[in-house]
Amino acid sequence: IFSQVELAAADPILGLTDAFKADVRDNKVNLGVGIYKDESGQTPILKSVKFAEEKLLATESSKSYLGMEGVQAYNRVVQTLLFGREHTVVTEQRALTAQAPGGTGSLRIAAEFLVRHTNSKKIWISNPTWANHHNIFSTAGLEIAEYRYYKAETHGLDFDAMLSDLQTAEAGDLVLLHGCCHNPTGIDLDNAQWQRVAQLCLEKQLVPLFDFAYQGFGAGVEEDAQGLRIVASTVPELIVANSFSKNFGLYNERIGAVTVVASNSEEAVNAFSQIKSTIRASYSNPPAHGALIVSTILEDETLKQLWHDELREMRERIAEMRILFVKSLKAAGVEQDFEFISRQNGMFSFSGLSKEQVNRLRDEFAVYIVGSGRISVAGMTKSNIPVICEAIAKVV
Ligand code: LMR
Repeated sequence: IFSQVELAAADPILGLTDAFKADVRDNKVNLGVGIYKDESGQTPILKSVKFAEEKLLATESSKSYLGMEGVQAYNRVVQTLLFGREHTVVTEQRALTAQAPGGTGSLRIAAEFLVRHTNSKKIWISNPTWANHHNIFSTAGLEIAEYRYYKAETHGLDFDAMLSDLQTAEAGDLVLLHGCCHNPTGIDLDNAQWQRVAQLCLEKQLVPLFDFAYQGFGAGVEEDAQGLRIVASTVPELIVANSFSKNFGLYNERIGAVTVVASNSEEAVNAFSQIKSTIRASYSNPPAHGALIVSTILEDETLKQLWHDELREMRERIAEMRILFVKSLKAAGVEQDFEFISRQNGMFSFSGLSKEQVNRLRDEFAVYIVGSGRISVAGMTKSNIPVICEAIAKVV
């Protein structure tokens, strides 16, 4: 049977990591996948995580199965992070959360649930978006439509185009929204724009699906949740897929969650029961370690404060690299204006470099960035920025 199987195309992001690992050049730099590096080029385990793990090692008494929905204490702290304690979706018990494996696993569970148990069969995603969105949603069986988001000429948001494309969506259609730090553009909506999108979803009966993978990498944990909270205050139903890969540095623990918000608590219970049955059919129940780390940190005031401080440090280092990057491009003689990079949020910078320039960066200079021109600023350090900028100067 396998003689008929064709070789899969390389993944646009993770395939780059494979190619990078196989590259034998000493001066190689990987700015493809979104992984935070500290100033020494390492991806550290946060101190708050290490302390939580020590605590778990001393106190954990069983490795018995979790329920399909995962660690319950974790699911509670996830809701608080997403909505705050006082939001009506929480106080009215309209939100129910299940632990899931990372952002991808959470999106996939949400999509499988929607396809099988609702009449929503079409999802609108921004153009551009994270490459894996197409993959996840089409594999789950959703039809994909795109709304415009980015204006290349201004390197900014094309909000009018976004609204006008979403005006053509039909009742019950899903709209994928990036909670903050839009991947790949780094361009987010302001609160007034969130309000307009929320209103449009309400009027046209569109169902928002939030991909929230970078909470705390924009302006801060609370600030970055404003868009989600505005939308959740306006529309009756939505789903959130969130991830702690980046903000807790728990990449390989695969820890995220899917939260369903329904019009009332009874509908929430019904929808949640089908989320659980979707989990049962996929992997039965999730692994515990990542969820226990997150809940241990967020339930302990000292560890929580330490985590906030460590997250701020990551956020500020990336912001500093952004500014240094723009400065160093000028210093390397690049005449093109890259000032817009300092206005983008989160881990990525959408550089506007062409596919051909991206290929030259990789082939001639061992600098790896995503084919769309997306650069992971989170992988830059004071020592690799000059190398990167010299290379860019040669290809533009
Ligand atoms: C990215 O966009 O680089 C990250 O979300 C990692 C991934 O899985 O693609």
